[in-house]
Amino acid sequence: MSTDFSIRVASLEDKEVVTQLLKASYPVLMKSRYSEEHLSNILPIMTKANPFLLSSGTFYLAETKDKSVIGCGGWTKEKPGSSEIETGLGHIRHFATHPQWTRKSIGRKIYQRCEKEAKMAQIKCFECFSSLNAEGFYRALGFKSVKNIDIILVNHLKIEAVWMRRYI
Ligand SMILES: CC(C)(COP(=O)(O)OP(=O)(O)OC[C@H]1O[C@@H](n2cnc3c(N)ncnc32)[C@H](O)[C@@H]1OP(=O)(O)O)[C@@H](O)C(=O)NCCC(=O)NCCS
Repeated sequence: MSTDFSIRVASLEDKEVVTQLLKASYPVLMKSRYSEEHLSNILPIMTKANPFLLSSGTFYLAETKDKSVIGCGGWTKEKPGSSEIETGLGHIRHFATHPQWTRKSIGRKIYQRCEKEAKMAQIKCFECFSSLNAEGFYRALGFKSVKNIDIILVNHLKIEAVWMRRYI
């Protein structure tokens, strides 16, 4: 398999391919740290592409030469699930790599693009709510864990995550 891929900005037109990517990635790669029962409850909510992110201009896709989307991720000034903005703070959002393409630096390359664009927008610090399985990935990118927290998805559904931070 070729390891060639390029990074481009996503748009609303990518809604279906991003949903397909999240559906391929999350169930396989998250099962190391979450039970099957828990995943069957939360994944229908978590694997929907977010239109706000897709149209933000700061959400990126990794694409092969034949235009298959194999990775995604981005950042926003807005805190997840709110319109709250804190000067200088950016939020890392919805990183996913296709399970057949992990450990080929796709996530790292998307992150580097995020960091470059965020610095140009005067962002000084990134925060993320990492899934338990992705903590090692974010640590490798220079993030430090702040603490474990429960994130409320809807009503009574929640997911344990790691609040992480990196100054850029
Ligand atoms: C987390 C995720 C995006 C990483 O994507 P990836 O493209 O495989 O990451 P990279 O190849 O760029 O990895 C860069 C470095 O991060 C570290 N890393 C990546 N995955 C890791 C893992 N599962 N455990 C520990 N370290 C990991 C490694 O140091 C790696 O470098 P190396 O391969 O040279 O050792 C991917 O595993 C994924 O999609 N997981 C499921 C979805 C998810 O949990 N997303 C996070 C939501 S907050």
